[in-house]
Amino acid sequence: MFTDRDAFAGSITLVDDDMAIDWFVDRAAADRISANPVLAFVFGDEFGVDYETARDANRPVQADPQWIDGLLEEYFDEDDEEMLDLVDVRSPAELTVSLDDIVLTDDQEAEMSKVAKAIEHRDYLATIGLNEVGKLLFVGPPGTGKTSTARGLAHQLDLPFVEVKLSMITSQYLGETAKNVEKVFEVAKRLSPCILFMDEFDFVATTRTGDEHNAIKRAVNTLLKSIDEISLVTDDVLLIGATNHPDELDAAAWRRFDEILSFPRPDEGMRADIISLVTSEVDIADFDPAALAAETSGLTGSDLRLVLREAVLDALVEDRTELTQDDLMAAISEFEDRDHLRNLDTLEDALDDTHSDHTHDDHPAPNPE
Ligand SMILES: Nc1ncnc2c1ncn2[C@@H]1O[C@H](COP(=O)(O)OP(=O)(O)O)[C@@H](O)[C@H]1O
Ligand SMILES: [Mg+2]
Repeated sequence: MFTDRDAFAGSITLVDDDMAIDWFVDRAAADRISANPVLAFVFGDEFGVDYETARDANRPVQADPQWIDGLLEEYFDEDDEEMLDLVDVRSPAELTVSLDDIVLTDDQEAEMSKVAKAIEHRDYLATIGLNEVGKLLFVGPPGTGKTSTARGLAHQLDLPFVEVKLSMITSQYLGETAKNVEKVFEVAKRLSPCILFMDEFDFVATTRTGDEHNAIKRAVNTLLKSIDEISLVTDDVLLIGATNHPDELDAAAWRRFDEILSFPRPDEGMRADIISLVTSEVDIADFDPAALAAETSGLTGSDLRLVLREAVLDALVEDRTELTQDDLMAAISEFEDRDHLRNLDTLEDALDDTHSDHTHDDHPAPNPE
């Protein structure tokens, strides 16, 4: 009664919106409305359904693992196996790390809020033509939380996380790699809004200057070009690069990022917070995180987790699940002994040592910041 059917084309058009709405509202019920954020937005008031609640209860299609798998299948054939080495896509539901699991510096905290706001207001940024946002480079030694922070951000913002492993760009599949790099960016655009994370970004610099195979150089050039062409404001893709070796990046690589975020070795206060966080589920007698922080100069968040692991396993050997402060102190010295051995092992680490010497108690590493 409120539609018109074109018998020839077989199409149906709505001729009286108001009548259609009345008809629908008469038959709808609150549970139906709350299952659909669009309906909740329009009719929520009449049914006592809140739009925000309806939206939270219905994850966007991008968050759905099945949808993501379908998309990957569409883009990559079975014989595109190398692409599976190159890229790892996770839905937010599959991301276990949240930003609450990571102790951030004030700068990092501020940057995370800025990025969250930029994503939320990207339409506004597009209107005013502000395109220079949404490409971040995380810089710092291994184990300082770069990967975890990127994943935590995806978790917090409920965005799919596309991780590209640059070291997997090899000449193994000659000629195909550059094409697959392009496909990865296509997938990221289709998944948008999403986070595209590129670990080991220094790979780009070493490849450009090194004596690499042409296929690799071509893939890296494609990568740089794709980075230039993608944007948070127009494509809804937030790009995060990470590197342990900022010294290897050339000006051309730096220039591609709008913001450089430092991941320093944690200072004493931060170490105390990290220790408290990673031990939050563990029973520890006489627990004094500040005292442990004072003994762990130069250790990263990842090192502190290893210390805890050591202490927990040592206690389990003695059939204990309650730890003591002494267990943790012992694990710290054990860790430092082991770390010292490892550093003596290779020339490269010995050279690294001159930058960040944290193995000799008589020369504690100066705490960054
Ligand atoms: N600031 C931190 N707060 C809490 N945990 C941390 C921190 N830094 C590192 N970690 C832990 O160390 C491990 C390695 O961190 P990761 O993010 O992989 O470091 P990176 O990518 O910088 O090498 C993770 O389990 C992470 O939870
Ligand atoms: Mg990492």
